[in-house]
Amino acid sequence: NMASAQAVIPDDFEMPTEAFDIPQSYSGDLSAVVIPEGMIKDRVRRLAHDVHSAIGSQPLALLCVLKGSYKFFTALVDELTSARFDCPHPMTVDFIRCRSYEDTQSTGSVEIIGMSNLAELKGKNVLVVDDIVDTGRTLSLLLQKLEDTGVKKCWTALLVSKRVPRTIEVAEDFVAFQIPDKFIVGYGLDYNQRFRDLRHICVMSKSGIEKYKNLE
Ligand code: IMP
Ligand code: MG
Repeated sequence: NMASAQAVIPDDFEMPTEAFDIPQSYSGDLSAVVIPEGMIKDRVRRLAHDVHSAIGSQPLALLCVLKGSYKFFTALVDELTSARFDCPHPMTVDFIRCRSYEDTQSTGSVEIIGMSNLAELKGKNVLVVDDIVDTGRTLSLLLQKLEDTGVKKCWTALLVSKRVPRTIEVAEDFVAFQIPDKFIVGYGLDYNQRFRDLRHICVMSKSGIEKYKNLE
């Protein structure tokens, strides 16, 4: 139930990192900028309106899936605050942490940390805010746990949806961008815990991937 048209990043859409304000410490590790911060902000504003149109003024609990969605979450909450200006019911915010990646591969096992908070979501309308859907494993596991917890209704808001076949199909209700199958970092997204502070969503270079590989 996509609320409106999709924002699709084509396979070959890449801009030179030299054309943006990439910190010097990261410059050799990235090969291209794929979604500049300004574009994310514009898209998130519209997404908040789509969320508001679909969900309306009913009470809403926002669930931030850390760490990757921290920037997207604050941007979306800010825009929703404006969109819900006339609502009689306030929003609440909660945080949870999921971890599944090692290097650039999904490990297949998903850890959810901070589950004890989930009981507080029982009987509530929940908007799950996550960074990215790739195989679909992480999000589907979380949605299953929320269902088991007994939430009233659940929607998902995603910063990016990867154009790959899902291992597990999941509901993608509000998607900011659909992207090609490339490993991306920035705007909260990491490679072995690095690059989360990067303003723009970028593609890693081969040398960057090598440099920060987890050596076992
Ligand atoms: P899934 O379980 O395969 O759908 O993967 C979801 C999680 O994997 C996300 O929450 C991210 O933490 C991580 N992930 C997937 N693709 C990327 C990527 O391109 N860059 C950084 N992290 C990613
Ligand atoms: Mg991650």
